[in-house]
Amino acid sequence: MKKKYFITTYGCQLNVHESEKLAGILQNMGYTEANNIKTADVIIFNTCAIRGGAENRAMGNIGALKKYKLENKNKIIAVCGCMTQQKENADFIFKTFPFVDIIFGTTNIHLFQKFLEDREKTQKRQYDYSEDFNLKSENCPKYRTSGENAWVNIMQGCNNFCTYCIVPYVRGRERSKPQQDIITEIKELIKQKKYKKITLLGQNVNSYGNDTNQINFANLLKEICSLEGDFKLTFMTSHPKDLTSEVIDIIAQNDKMLKEIHLPIQSGSNKILKAMNRKYTVEKYLSIVEEIKSKIPNVRLTTDIIVGFPGETEQDFQNTCDLIKKVQYNGVFAFMYSKRKGTPAENMPNQVDEETKNQRVNEILKLTKENKKEN
Ligand code: 5AD
Ligand code: SF4
Repeated sequence: MKKKYFITTYGCQLNVHESEKLAGILQNMGYTEANNIKTADVIIFNTCAIRGGAENRAMGNIGALKKYKLENKNKIIAVCGCMTQQKENADFIFKTFPFVDIIFGTTNIHLFQKFLEDREKTQKRQYDYSEDFNLKSENCPKYRTSGENAWVNIMQGCNNFCTYCIVPYVRGRERSKPQQDIITEIKELIKQKKYKKITLLGQNVNSYGNDTNQINFANLLKEICSLEGDFKLTFMTSHPKDLTSEVIDIIAQNDKMLKEIHLPIQSGSNKILKAMNRKYTVEKYLSIVEEIKSKIPNVRLTTDIIVGFPGETEQDFQNTCDLIKKVQYNGVFAFMYSKRKGTPAENMPNQVDEETKNQRVNEILKLTKENKKEN
């Protein structure tokens, strides 16, 4: 009988896609997907570090995996992802949870088969930590699990260092995937005829190509749109400071482009945007929104908001509410600020208490419901 695996994924689309790579490796080794965690021979937790809540949930659930190991000591338990790309967390898991067999971060996904085989051969726990950020996992086989949508990574990492964000530390600096590799991957997807939607992935897709002498993001979009086939194209995530008129024009004018943009604003207060190191003002953001709406009349516009960033006063928060009302988004993802170890905002004065954050996030939820009714 074939061995089975079960993968639990926390966090963003990038993690979802990386789980597709781990599944690809396992499928190539002859494994199949288990219907539930109990029947799996290999259990993987692909973790997220963006907020404390995601980490705490994963940590608790890792603890609960012990029972499976007690039932069957041959079960292999692996933990990977952004949480274990922080040395302290990886060390903690290694020490606290001796039933976890394999620990690795975001840099060495392509080595998973080796970790698994070494664990089985030597019976030794595999603990790999490396800060060698690379693009090697791009060459992994992919077992796609997102229906008609195919994720295609175009770059990894982030250079922006927003002061609240852990991503640059657990994903490294921006690295663009060679244009030719992207085109080859997409041509292959089109040929399979299974995928009606292709979503280009990156922490800040607008800066594609900045780290190499390759074409820029707008030209990459144009090139993909020129491929023959029955598919729609979209991308995430954009940073407002880098979204160009050229890209907006391509979305407006090309039938292959889905008429949607996710454009995180984070706050409607210039003081807070500055403290967040976002490098744009509310006015600049609104001028981009105006350009988008005038060029793409039925655009689906969504955003991310953080409430309770250090120093956020009631007035700053009201400015955020005003901005949401003004833009009339089709979707708002609101998060309570979560302190991340090693980020500049961790030690900023005037941290906002949990209750206020909670109130503010609820107020935004209420507001966006009202917003939706009006649409
Ligand atoms: N606390 C709360 N939300 C955060 N995000 C990123 N870092 C944090 C943090 N420390 C949010 C941002 C980002 C989204 C993916 O997660 O809004 O756009
Ligand atoms: Fe984090 Fe800012 Fe980079 Fe987005 S752009 S991943 S919020 S540092």
